[in-house]
Amino acid sequence: MRWYPNPIERRVHASLKWSTFPDAEIPLWVADMDCAPPPCVSDTVNRSLEHGIFGYGIEPKGFREAWVDHLHKTHQWTIDPDWIVPIAGVVPGMRFALMAHPDIQQILTPTPAYPYFKTVPSIENRIEHPIALTRVGETLEPSLAQISKTLETLTEPSAILWCNPHNPGGKVYSKQFIEALVATASKRNTLIVSDEIWADLILNDKPHIPLGLFASNDQPTITLMAATKTFNVAGFGCAVAIIPEPNTRARYLETQIAMPHVAPLAYAVTESCLRYGWQWHSELLTALKHNQNTLIDWAKSHPELEVTTGDATFLAWIESHNQMDLPERFAAQGVRLSPGRPFGSDTAVRLNFGTDPTTLHEALRRMDTVLPSNRKEHS
Ligand SMILES: Cc1ncc(COP(=O)(O)O)c(C=O)c1O
Repeated sequence: MRWYPNPIERRVHASLKWSTFPDAEIPLWVADMDCAPPPCVSDTVNRSLEHGIFGYGIEPKGFREAWVDHLHKTHQWTIDPDWIVPIAGVVPGMRFALMAHPDIQQILTPTPAYPYFKTVPSIENRIEHPIALTRVGETLEPSLAQISKTLETLTEPSAILWCNPHNPGGKVYSKQFIEALVATASKRNTLIVSDEIWADLILNDKPHIPLGLFASNDQPTITLMAATKTFNVAGFGCAVAIIPEPNTRARYLETQIAMPHVAPLAYAVTESCLRYGWQWHSELLTALKHNQNTLIDWAKSHPELEVTTGDATFLAWIESHNQMDLPERFAAQGVRLSPGRPFGSDTAVRLNFGTDPTTLHEALRRMDTVLPSNRKEHS
């Protein structure tokens, strides 16, 4: 695994991350990393190019088996291959979940959260009930009491759209929390949609607890997973919805008519990563951990900010509590971060530290120049 320190290489292919904003800015926003994926990805793509025919495809025979093996081996979750519905992305997968349940009007979502947790209920005309995650120690914590209380007030069918591990806070939920979340939803007959795209990017020594470990197979749940974040292949749209309960799965499958399907190459790349990408992945975790420590050290010199890196993801959530113009001020100094507003906070930014250490250090140096604590030192 190696970082790409040279942004020119990224801009050649119209990268969303590198080609959207002026060249002078260091882009640490959208969640892909500045590194090549595992070698099995180019092997797979090269084999496909050599074959040279690109017609319609079907799901390859080994695709489900690769997921079943991975979930069993890595997360101790034993699933039936029939529970899997391949989809072209996790975000579309969230939307399909709501499309499949027009009867469900009330949606609980964590806040802050990856913006699509807000956008998807809104474009599907549902009513959102934000569940606040507040900083406790070094992590952002939800309140199960707030989830229960919110569900108690609702008279219409409801769903919980959850993010496990959490983007942007990197929270890896405990066994106790997931167990209680599942029990609370079951008591109120509430659908849980669990976005677990970050399950394999845990940097500290905590196990990912899939929702499916505690939900019974006849409880309505939809778990969304993908290999795209883990192996840095977001351009190959491919994900899975894992739906044990047959009625929920049948409703979900109905939404797939006239929808874009997973491209043959995206299937093949995902399968190859799940089977052969793990040596690369272990090097990646070491490199990300190094960058996470850089952020933690940097945060010590900025007590005016709450910098949460959590236990998972390559994202840091930087909350100022009073500065509304942080994204603009950082951009003016040449660092492009994700503004907090679409996540649910006007006074925060999200930083993607999946980049080479030199770029990260330079970005932090530029950010220092606009922060109040450092302004004094610099003046
Ligand atoms: C929590 C979460 N869900 C989904 C996605 C995107 O998934 P996809 O590209 O498969 O639609 C992201 C991307 O950053 C994410 O952080």
